[in-house]
Amino acid sequence: MVLWVIRRCEASKPRPEAGGGAMNGFFCMGRGCTNATVRHLTAFSGGSTIYFFKNNMLWRFAFFWLGIYASGLGFILGLLGTSVHIRRFQIGEEATLYGVYYSAIHRIASRDYSQEQINAWAPAEVDQILWEEKIQRINPFVAVIDGVVVGYTDIQPSGYIDHFFVSGNRPRQGIGANLMGVIHQEAAQRGITELTSDVSLTAQPFFSKFGFHVVEHRFPKRRGVVIPNALMRKILACST
Ligand SMILES: CC(C)(COP(=O)(O)OP(=O)(O)OC[C@H]1O[C@@H](n2cnc3c(N)ncnc32)[C@H](O)[C@@H]1OP(=O)(O)O)[C@@H](O)C(=O)NCCC(=O)NCCS
Repeated sequence: MVLWVIRRCEASKPRPEAGGGAMNGFFCMGRGCTNATVRHLTAFSGGSTIYFFKNNMLWRFAFFWLGIYASGLGFILGLLGTSVHIRRFQIGEEATLYGVYYSAIHRIASRDYSQEQINAWAPAEVDQILWEEKIQRINPFVAVIDGVVVGYTDIQPSGYIDHFFVSGNRPRQGIGANLMGVIHQEAAQRGITELTSDVSLTAQPFFSKFGFHVVEHRFPKRRGVVIPNALMRKILACST
């Protein structure tokens, strides 16, 4: 609603005052943009004056304040506790995990790969039997928020991480970090001394952040298409 009002103000083209300085168009003039509208926006933005400069400054000011409010709200909601619960995958969740895999690749990894690579990596139609076998074999941990599976990963007895995916609807919310924490716990419990994974271009900064380093750049093919990645490794503290 507020953004609609802002748009309308912008569309009404504030009439420039003589002088051409920064205060030009201080009021929004024209149809649908009364001073009451301005007051409404002002109140919404926390009592700060909104200036109708030229070159769409209204947008920038409005977004600035709305951004502050949104991050404040996000922070409070965070404190109230949207917690990530991590548990073992359960039989019957294979299709859900394909949804996570698909959205992670199509919505996050797509920034580093072409559409052809993305489609080869995560096709819309997948062989369900093969997928179910794969997921049951790697026996992943899943991350759950409010009953919804939002990510998953696995660790094999060798320390190899085969899959590591966070839903495309939930990037950069700490879900990957939580999953990585569980991988490390599990490795410590099982006496695993090194972690390895073939890591996508997209996930390499994330893995680096957790102490992995690139051992080798690789160019594997999926469904006939090359999808570059890198073998990454992390040496864990030796168990005595
Ligand atoms: C890589 C991936 C698993 C990360 O999961 P995530 O939940 O978004 O990661 P987090 O929010 O826990 O990130 C923790 C920290 O890692 C780093 N990080 C995460 N993603 C990053 C990125 N794309 N670029 C740089 N740093 C990144 C940041 O330091 C981040 O902390 P910050 O957000 O406070 O800056 C997720 O982006 C993903 O599924 N990507 C697409 C699929 C893929 O490539 N999977 C890997 C196959 S091997």
